[in-house]
Amino acid sequence: MDFKLTDEQLLIQQTARSFAEQQLKPGVIARDEHQKFPAEQIKKLGELGFLGIMVSPNYGGSGMDTLSYVLVMEELSKIDASASVVVSVNNSLVCYGLEKFGTEAQKQKFLIPLAAGGQIGAFCLSEPEAGSDATSQKTTAVDMGDHYLLNGVKNWITNGSTASTYIVLAQTDAEKGNHGINAFIVEKGLEGFTIGPKENKMGVRGSDTHSLQFNDVKVPKANRLGQEGEGFKIAMKLLEGGRIGIAAQALGIAAGAYELSLRYVKERRSFGKPLADHQAIQFKLADMETEIEAARMLVYKAAWLKDNGLPYGHASAIAKLFASETAMKTTIEAVQIHGGYGYVKEYHVERLMRDAKITQIYEGTSEIQRIVISRGILK
Ligand code: CAA
Ligand code: FAD
Repeated sequence: MDFKLTDEQLLIQQTARSFAEQQLKPGVIARDEHQKFPAEQIKKLGELGFLGIMVSPNYGGSGMDTLSYVLVMEELSKIDASASVVVSVNNSLVCYGLEKFGTEAQKQKFLIPLAAGGQIGAFCLSEPEAGSDATSQKTTAVDMGDHYLLNGVKNWITNGSTASTYIVLAQTDAEKGNHGINAFIVEKGLEGFTIGPKENKMGVRGSDTHSLQFNDVKVPKANRLGQEGEGFKIAMKLLEGGRIGIAAQALGIAAGAYELSLRYVKERRSFGKPLADHQAIQFKLADMETEIEAARMLVYKAAWLKDNGLPYGHASAIAKLFASETAMKTTIEAVQIHGGYGYVKEYHVERLMRDAKITQIYEGTSEIQRIVISRGILK
């Protein structure tokens, strides 16, 4: 075992840390308040190569490993989870999906601009009646010969209005159950494709979440991703990697709240001494640090398994479950440590607490991670 990061990984980590401090921190409270998408910051992240971190340089990417991706996610999420979720979806769901399952023509047309940071992608699995129960797809894609006719509604789509390329799951043959589901690359602007209003959310408020409606949208045959009937398995494979990204996001949210708390307990005084001198506060810090470190090991291990060509779905579910629960617990404690100041926006921890909650819900709720983990144990 080697717990040391390489020089390249340390550099990426440092670059992401400086970016978060210099480019994301200013304005993060206002963006949250006004639900403003971090457009300028995402453009700069694209220029740094952070929207196609793991994609081969042949397709416009940075050619780095999954651990580097995790380090970037962790550092950005310490400050701004609304920006990091854009990075996560683009990297691990959309770019990875196109690189792993796309044809050469699809990679040339769709992957290169997404990996190079000129465009943003979205991944569309959830529906009003198919969230956790993702095989119950109601969106249909009827095979019309040279194209598919897409009809239905997708819910809660991250990058819903800012994306230009959407990976959309739909049922082509209901009789075949999940084996009748296909994945399609759908371009913004196709006739019949409309985007609903932005959701007004508790957390990750700067991110761009919308429902999407498809009314007789003609999707060319050439835009099917993967073989006929493989769509559901592709979605599940993508979520195995996506959950590493969200686990890293949760880790970063927890670590961000912990770092703010550590600074605060040295500055704030009560009963004639710094908060840091009260044992009750010291024990909170000890528990936070212990759980964050455990989460970090689980997240890095899942990334390491992926980088070493080993199965990683089980490990990514464990990492996401533990890191997201840690994010929630840690941010609640961070607000507590800050007292009344923690309850107002300028101290950042209340936002981190609201942002932490989503990590227990998207890319599979904590209950779904437990289903995946227990099935893995018992199979
Ligand atoms: N890799 C490959 N295939 C897989 C797989 C995997 N990891 N997991 C399941 N499958 C296959 C199964 O082998 C099965 O195939 P067969 O029919 O050939 O046997 C098929 O998929 C269906 O699987 P199950 O029988 O296990 O289906 P299920 O309905 O009992 O449960 C589930 C599946 C794990 C609960 C799944 O529905 C799930 O993961 N739900 C959560 C959905 C989710 O995570 N959504 C996230 C949306 S994206 C998002 O949220 C982005 C964001 O916020 C930023
Ligand atoms: P439900 O499935 O209705 O679950 C409700 C509750 O019941 C949960 O606590 C759940 O864990 C529990 N539950 C359900 N079934 C079981 C069971 N069998 N056993 C035990 N408990 C169970 N989706 C996308 O496709 N793309 C995106 O980009 C995307 N981005 C999102 C961004 C945001 C901000 C949000 C809020 C959601 C996003 N989602 C996205 C959707 C997200 O993945 C779903 O919300 C999530 O999978 C849960 O589905 P649901 O909301 O329908 O809840």
